[in-house]
Amino acid sequence: MNSPSSFIVTIDGPAASGKSSVSREVAKKLGWSWVSTGAFYRGLAYIAHAKGADLSSEDSVVKIAQSPDWAVRMTPEETCVFMGSQDVTSEIGKEEVGSLASKISSFPKVRAALLDAQRQCAVGVTGLVAEGRDCGTVVFPKAQVKIFLTARAEDRAARRATEQGHDLEHIVREQQKRDAQDANRKAAPLQAPADAHVIDTTELSFIEVVEKVEDFIVSARQG
Ligand code: DC
Repeated sequence: MNSPSSFIVTIDGPAASGKSSVSREVAKKLGWSWVSTGAFYRGLAYIAHAKGADLSSEDSVVKIAQSPDWAVRMTPEETCVFMGSQDVTSEIGKEEVGSLASKISSFPKVRAALLDAQRQCAVGVTGLVAEGRDCGTVVFPKAQVKIFLTARAEDRAARRATEQGHDLEHIVREQQKRDAQDANRKAAPLQAPADAHVIDTTELSFIEVVEKVEDFIVSARQG
């Protein structure tokens, strides 16, 4: 599943646990590629909504997932989403889009439709740091290093509220709903892979979390 020469690190965890910023920084320091698999679900939800598709219909969403009308591209700073030639990356970060993404991500056929493109991110690269909900369990089950990040729910919500200028209670409610939805769905639910290193980031600084992840990578490369 991993391409022969690529080293894969997966970082999974609930909403706003710091996965994106930590995984991006680790990839940057190593000079490796980075992908947010959530961008695939967010991009698809945004585009399906923009095209007026029925988001409660699994087949309608799969049809859009398989259409050539959209694309995802990795860059060191962002996992970019294009609707045709239009870059819609700046539109997909909002909690409202996260919530739509969570809804469509419960459809097994939607997940299957995105899997190949997610795995392609590891092809032809020296290393890949992939973050999401099922990167270590489903997308890259043979990843050399698997991390699962957790943090106190209130701290995660505070992080998003500050980023997005929403009030804290609204974000706490939305995130709780999304985490419950992601953890309780039948297809590839949010869960720590059995062989993952679990890091609780609540009492740690950003740099400390990055360093812990780097230490696990160094050990795996030596071993
Ligand atoms: O990580 P994020 O907030 O960008 O993800 C948005 C939603 O996409 C998340 O609530 C559930 C879904 N998702 C998923 O089901 N599997 C992934 N690997 C990544 C995201």
